Amino acid sequence: MAGGPGRVVVTRRIPDAAVDVLREVADVWWPEPDRQLTVGELHAALDGADGAVVTLRDPVDEAFADAAGERLRVVATVAVGYDNIDVPALTGRGVTVAHTPGVLTEATADLTFGLLLSVTRRLGEGERLLRSRTPWEFHLGFMLGTGLQGKTLGIVGLGQIGRAVARRARAFGMEIVYTGRRRAPADVEAELDARPLSLDGLLATSDVVSLHCPLTAETRHLIDADALAAMKPTAFLLNTTRGPVVDEGALARALADGTIAGAGLDVFEREPEVHPGLLERDNVALAPHLGSATVETRTAMATLAARNVAAVLRGTTPPTPVRK
Ligand code: GLV
Repeated sequence: MAGGPGRVVVTRRIPDAAVDVLREVADVWWPEPDRQLTVGELHAALDGADGAVVTLRDPVDEAFADAAGERLRVVATVAVGYDNIDVPALTGRGVTVAHTPGVLTEATADLTFGLLLSVTRRLGEGERLLRSRTPWEFHLGFMLGTGLQGKTLGIVGLGQIGRAVARRARAFGMEIVYTGRRRAPADVEAELDARPLSLDGLLATSDVVSLHCPLTAETRHLIDADALAAMKPTAFLLNTTRGPVVDEGALARALADGTIAGAGLDVFEREPEVHPGLLERDNVALAPHLGSATVETRTAMATLAARNVAAVLRGTTPPTPVRK
């Protein structure tokens, strides 16, 4: 590294194991106490940095790169999604961008299935009933939900997470259909017995639609009022990718007027805000962006991000760069 040990800015607290990886190659700075930096604070901290470890809440754009200056060589996000990063702006300056695919696949698929069970079996609603001390008694028609066996799961984006969700669904006796930018490899289709469909075909066929595509200009509001109207009135929508893939206002209306039966949401269009029309509905299971939030997974993600930074600063190939 030219001109000293180098400096890496880490925007949010990461586990010690990941800090140790960074300390092998650079001095490490992070905000004390741990907090989300304003853009102004972030830019001030970046001045002269060789690398940065960021989260999905940090805007990484021309201004970010300008603030860091010409030493900047790598930005690693502790996330698989990188819609907050202007990749061409960074790579155009010779800065490597890296993310953390693979290590959060199972945790995110688990959470997706948790939301599915929560909304179809009315777990949140039942818990709210008990906690509100509302009188109740068992009877045969009490709080009936919807079973999953024999139902069709439509996966939008059969990447690593989509496949992991589909595997869980197979164990629950569900049929799999999918749509995406390209057809899945034959062995993946065979393993999951998964049938490719157009988005329209998938929306019309599926009992559960689960979103696993990245947020891009093409997928922003992919699920809008028309898409919701194309779903079965008995169907459920799951979103564990990025909020803006769904038009949240249209979803709130669709849930209120019975266009679809329910939704399970881990992500929101304007996080941390949640559309009030969703908060007041019992047929929505909600989680505050917890897809990868396990100790094991977050440690693996942060360590992988640190390994990406360390590799670039050492002049070697990073394990998981964003390829564009
Ligand atoms: C989380 O949302 C991620 O993209 O890793």
